[in-house]
Amino acid sequence: MANCFGSTSVKIHAIGLGVLFLAGLSAHPGFAAPDAANTIGPDECGECHKAEVEVWRGTHHYSTFQELPRKDKAREIADNMGIRRIKNESLCLQCHFTQMIDDSGEPDAVAGISCESCHSAGKEWNDLHSDYGGKEVTRETEDPAHREQRIAASRQAGMIQPSMIYDWANNCFSCHTVPEEELVNEGGHPPGSKFELVSWSQGEVRHNVWYNDGQGNPEATAEQKRIMAVVGQMLDLEHALRGVAKATVRGDYAVAMAGRAKAAAQNIQKISDSASTPEIAAVLEVAGGVKLSLGNADALNAAADEVASQARAFVANNDGSGLGGVDSMIPGTDRFKGTPAR
Ligand code: HEC
Ligand code: HEC
Ligand code: HEC
Ligand code: HEC
Repeated sequence: MANCFGSTSVKIHAIGLGVLFLAGLSAHPGFAAPDAANTIGPDECGECHKAEVEVWRGTHHYSTFQELPRKDKAREIADNMGIRRIKNESLCLQCHFTQMIDDSGEPDAVAGISCESCHSAGKEWNDLHSDYGGKEVTRETEDPAHREQRIAASRQAGMIQPSMIYDWANNCFSCHTVPEEELVNEGGHPPGSKFELVSWSQGEVRHNVWYNDGQGNPEATAEQKRIMAVVGQMLDLEHALRGVAKATVRGDYAVAMAGRAKAAAQNIQKISDSASTPEIAAVLEVAGGVKLSLGNADALNAAADEVASQARAFVANNDGSGLGGVDSMIPGTDRFKGTPAR
């Protein structure tokens, strides 16, 4: 496992967090938690997706709803941030909870991190994505042209589908890098997870239980894992660059974000040594050309935007078959985060 990705062993010297400037406005809108007004909630998804809900109920994403407000550490962070009610009108909602509009017309936390936190708020696409084209029609008898049109229309309406690796993984990193300076520096919140896309998505979170009709919960294929492994490092770099751009002081937050960026760049270098593509090469060039310093927001955000477009292109242009060189770097089942269902 010596070749595995990891940020633990990376030393964070030479990051040049020097002069203090206010970070400029980012061109990137950042993570938008699903709009409460368009969220239909996991119970509604569960009307058809019982098996997926069952898997989800075994995850930390589910249990945080009940458990987070009871944790001393949560109380401590909330106190530091001047937040009274963790499940209400607070920063914590954005990453720990799913909100819906209740009967009185107010947003209300109804679950932890749920279906729509990853697949996007469902109101606009729920009916579209599940309609095979009439009551009598099944997945088997659906007209292929209808299927194609249905998938495209759902996507058009905002659904994040399993094949959209960049998009769903972008959601993981939006939360798991914790790009909130005050929350980290003043609140004492952990400065992001040691997140690696293959190992974190293939453990407790994995729910490939629909197309297998409840027969099992297979891992992503070797080809998919290669794509995930590479895109995960690109996204880590992208979010870390945006994270450094938001930093205003040389504190725990800035140091952690800069460390993330360095570690991701090193991992992408490793990848490129064994399997290069034009996108991987372009990302490396971007990483080498931007200074991880305070007051450099414009350049950092521009670099992040370029990494993002290369990552999207990488997903579009590769099916993983030519990337066997990265296999030795991909974490094995022993490193999966949490136990997969079934
Ligand atoms: C009325 C039943 C129904 C409801 C409610 C429903 N789904 Fe589905 N869902 C389906 C069907 C049917 C399919 C399979 C479509 C196919 O065969 O391609 C599906 C497929 C999916 C897929 C896989 C799509 C793909 O591109 O492979 C995802 C993801 C999904 N649903 C998420 C959700 C989420 C999240 C919710 C709640 C916001 C939800 N569904 C609510 C019936 C439903
Ligand atoms: C930007 C996203 C984000 C926001 C905002 C956020 N959290 Fe978190 N929080 C996370 C993530 C991701 C983890 C999981 C870290 C891990 O396990 O790797 C986490 C973990 C935690 C933990 C567990 C830490 C531990 O040491 O066990 C606590 C407690 C917590 N958050 C409290 C809060 C509180 C209270 C708020 C609001 C003031 C908040 N969080 C806001 C993303 C966020
Ligand atoms: C943490 C993010 C996350 C959450 C929460 C989540 N999903 Fe998913 N879902 C994914 C990802 C990622 C995939 C694709 C996995 C892959 O291709 O290996 C996926 C795949 C699916 C699929 C296709 C499964 C198959 O057999 O291929 C369905 C259906 C689905 N999700 C429905 C749901 C429902 C319903 C919920 C809520 C109970 C939910 N998801 C919660 C991220 C999430
Ligand atoms: C809306 C924010 C959000 C999104 C999106 C999100 N997560 Fe999380 N995730 C969290 C938080 C917060 C926790 C910590 C929950 C707790 O224990 O209190 C967490 C916990 C986890 C854990 C358990 C970690 C542990 O300590 O055992 C795994 C695994 C995980 N997430 C994987 C993923 C993957 C993979 C994706 C994307 C497919 C994803 N998450 C998307 C917020 C998010």
